[in-house]
Amino acid sequence: MTVFLFIVILALVAQRIYVKMEAHTLPLRKEDFGHVNYTITEIPTTYYSVGKVSDILKEWDGRFHLYRVNPKEKFNFDFHQLNSKVRAKAFLDKCKWESTLCSPCFDSKKMVTEVSTETIFNESGYYASFAKVSDEAVKYLWDSMNLPFTANVAQLEHAFIANLKTDTITAGIHANPMTYSMGIQFIGRKTWLFWDHDVYLNDMRAIPAAPILIPRQAPGRPYPLYVYTSEPGDILFFPESYAHVVLTHSGPNVLVNYRKFFPMNLFRQPLTWIAGRMNGWLSPVIHSAGPVAGNSMQQQYVPEKKINQVAYVNMDKLCEGGLTQFDIDMLEVLKKEAAKYH
Ligand SMILES: [Fe+2]
Repeated sequence: MTVFLFIVILALVAQRIYVKMEAHTLPLRKEDFGHVNYTITEIPTTYYSVGKVSDILKEWDGRFHLYRVNPKEKFNFDFHQLNSKVRAKAFLDKCKWESTLCSPCFDSKKMVTEVSTETIFNESGYYASFAKVSDEAVKYLWDSMNLPFTANVAQLEHAFIANLKTDTITAGIHANPMTYSMGIQFIGRKTWLFWDHDVYLNDMRAIPAAPILIPRQAPGRPYPLYVYTSEPGDILFFPESYAHVVLTHSGPNVLVNYRKFFPMNLFRQPLTWIAGRMNGWLSPVIHSAGPVAGNSMQQQYVPEKKINQVAYVNMDKLCEGGLTQFDIDMLEVLKKEAAKYH
C-alpha cells in the first residue's frame, strides 16, 4: 500500500513537472496582455560611502534591496582595466518593434565571437551579454567594491559590457527562477522595470523556459511596478523570479551580475526550479561561453538555449501587427524614466 501511494505521488509530481517543462510551447494571446493599473514603487535603498559598503552590509542580502553611493560622492572605475576579449552583438539600425515583451533587435550579421573590450569602448554599437572577462578583470571588478564577502560566494557571474549609440532595450521581460542576484553597475546607467516574484509567478503565470521564466499574461489585478535607474556604484540584490526589463543607456556601460544558489531558491518553488533545471539540461545550447580555465570564480555559461528560441517565437507573436496595451504602458514608463537622465 505504501509503495503504491509513493508511486502515485511520484507520478503526479512527474506529470506536473512535465506540464511545466512543456508550457513554453503554448501560444500566447494578445488579449491576455491588456491594460492593468499599477503603482510606481521605489526599491528600498541604503546609502554607503565609497569603499566602505562593508560598514553597513555584512553578508549577501537575500531581500530586494539597493545599496547606493552617497549622493555627494563619486564612484570611480577605470574601464581600461577590463582588457578582455568577449563575444558581442550589435543592434539593427531599424527595428521592426521596440518592446518590453518581445526580443530586442539584435543584428545577427554583426555578431562577433571575439572583440576586445577596448574596441567596444572605442567604437560604439557593441553589446556583450553574459560575457566572461579575463581573470585579472574579474579581480579588479571585485576588488573595486570592497564587499564584506569573497567572490566565491557567487557561483556564476555574467558581465554586460556595452557602448551603444542610443538608449536601447537590451532585455525584454524575463526572470531567473534559480538563483539570487547581485547586480553591480560599474559605469553607465540602465533603466529597469521590476515585478516581484508574487506578481510574476501568480498574477502573470510565469513559466520556465530553460533557466528563465517568461510570462503568460499581464497581472490580473493592480500591482506594484518597480522603476529604477542604476548608477555607477549601485549594488542591487534581487531574489529569484523577480522579473525585469532592461534598457541600457547610450555610452560606455559595464554591469556584472553575480548569481548565488541557495537552498531557499529550490524550496520556494520546487517544481518550477526542477523544470527549469531539466529544461536547461535537456535543451541544446545554441552557443556557450564555457568556463574559464583555472578560475572557479568564472565558471559560467550562456543560457541561450534552443528552448528559449521556441519561447521567444511565441513571445514575438505578441508584437506582430502592433504592441499589446500592457507593452505600450510599460514602454511609456520605461522611456519616461530613462529620459530623466538626458
Ligand atoms: Fe536578467
